[in-house]
Amino acid sequence: MPRPIQVPSEIIQKWQEIVDLLAEVMHVPSALIMKVEPPNIKVFISSESEGNPYESDEVASLNTGLYCETVMKTRQPLLVPDALRDEEWKSNPDIKLGMISYLGFPISWPDGEIFGTICVLDNKRNEYGELYRKLLLQWRDVLQTDLRSIATLQGELEEREAKIRRLVDANIIGVLISDLEGQIIEANDAFLNMVGYTRDEVASGRLSWPEMTPAEWQAASERAAAQVKTTGACEVFEKEYVRKDGSRVPVLVGAAAVGRTQSEGIAFVLDLTERKRAETEARESERRYREAQMELAHANRVTTMGELAASIAHELNQPIAAAFTNAQAALRWLSIQPPDLEEVRQALGRIAKDTNRAGDVIGRIRDLVKKAPPREDRLDINDTIRDVVVLTGGEVVKNGVSAQTQFAEGLPLIQGDRIQLQQVILNLIINAIEAMSRVGEGSRRLLISTGKDGQDGVLVAVQDSGPGLTPANQEHLFEAFYTTKPSGLGMGLSICRSIIEAHGGRLWATANVPRGAVFQFTVPTRPESAS
Ligand SMILES: Nc1ncnc2c1ncn2[C@@H]1O[C@H](COP(=O)(O)OP(=O)(O)OP(=O)(O)O)[C@@H](O)[C@H]1O
Ligand SMILES: [Mg+2]
Repeated sequence: MPRPIQVPSEIIQKWQEIVDLLAEVMHVPSALIMKVEPPNIKVFISSESEGNPYESDEVASLNTGLYCETVMKTRQPLLVPDALRDEEWKSNPDIKLGMISYLGFPISWPDGEIFGTICVLDNKRNEYGELYRKLLLQWRDVLQTDLRSIATLQGELEEREAKIRRLVDANIIGVLISDLEGQIIEANDAFLNMVGYTRDEVASGRLSWPEMTPAEWQAASERAAAQVKTTGACEVFEKEYVRKDGSRVPVLVGAAAVGRTQSEGIAFVLDLTERKRAETEARESERRYREAQMELAHANRVTTMGELAASIAHELNQPIAAAFTNAQAALRWLSIQPPDLEEVRQALGRIAKDTNRAGDVIGRIRDLVKKAPPREDRLDINDTIRDVVVLTGGEVVKNGVSAQTQFAEGLPLIQGDRIQLQQVILNLIINAIEAMSRVGEGSRRLLISTGKDGQDGVLVAVQDSGPGLTPANQEHLFEAFYTTKPSGLGMGLSICRSIIEAHGGRLWATANVPRGAVFQFTVPTRPESAS
């Protein structure tokens, strides 16, 4: 399968210089980089040199006996000093172009898949001495290093795209992707419903957000767009869109740059209609605003749980497989004469236990993903954390992290929303795991501890042994859309902070000793007792 990966234009330019230099230094009419695109082989880059019969983007079919085709097939270098005197080569198609000698090396992607070849051709006999061969080989290695960085970048982009895709498809909040001029390239149903346009209208390429922005909101929108261009993201701001029917919809928007060259923007849009209506009803507004934040928080839970899906599925397999084995055992005990009912009873008991275990995990996932109004419960913080530790167990193991918990006993019950607090812990644990993936295995330690905070509150700490915080990122950690991860959205910590503050507590980050970061938060037993 050919890869859908594009070689960026800066690299193409550099490669052009390479082949130009090669042709000049080696005194040959033609130096080429060929790329395989089954069923064809393409002249990807051709030297700008005198007498070069090949043009960039020229295509030939495979299986016609070209020199390069052989190099790709055998993955071996090929030297043909004089094709006219070589039985094997004397009727190959390149001779028609006058190219009777050839030296070429295969170029591969980092995973070994073939990219193409780098080669030089001459219109006269040429032995290509030792030094020339070395030179070509060196340049081949340079190209392969470039391919490695392209592939890595591509992998990171794909991961980020998958995350954004989950958010778009979940249709929890409006999401639109636009180009630099503001033309909307893609939008999800949630956004289309808000503004009253259809998917076909997006596809026709006629929708653009500047046109949907009323005059008095142009300045704010342009400021945000400029911020996205220079810093990669903008602060969340309020504005209005003009609907298709001419009416207005008030929204809360956050945006970030995406795409290979950061030439596209993704915007997250929350409908504030409800909230605005409430605002006119005076003090209702605070509650509505919370609701808008809850929507964002829900979106963050769904994407985070999506990331965990693979390792949780793996966890679930265990009890299910055990139940299956026990069912088979029970059948065997039943089929012997006389049946051993005591063994059957025990096997059934184990099945019930395993199924309960699996059911519990599923129940916790469902709780976290479903959208429920915030609740005020009396919570045991240790229990609340324990559930999350179970859910992230697979991810911890997969990443070679050794995790420990240190729960203080006799803590007071706190008042709050179980799911929201679990979301905070979930985000902190995932962040810690992600941070530690940048340090060597064997030194990845995660500690989750609880304790008392003052007279009547609890303190939770998540400590990791990752690279820790830099003064630069410490300042921005909790801002929306601040992220240093290629696949991050930067929503996690800002949502955590708003959840904790809504509970009357505090969330902050400090350095861990000897290294890593500590994220701590407090929750008072009764929010109103917080200062
Ligand atoms: N434990 C940690 N150690 C070091 N840096 C951290 C840690 N946790 C967070 N950070 C830094 O803070 C940034 C913001 O974290 P946040 O959770 O808000 O977003 P994110 O993890 O990048 O993306 P996502 O929206 O997927 O959570 C991270 O990109 C990272 O640079
Ligand atoms: Mg995060």
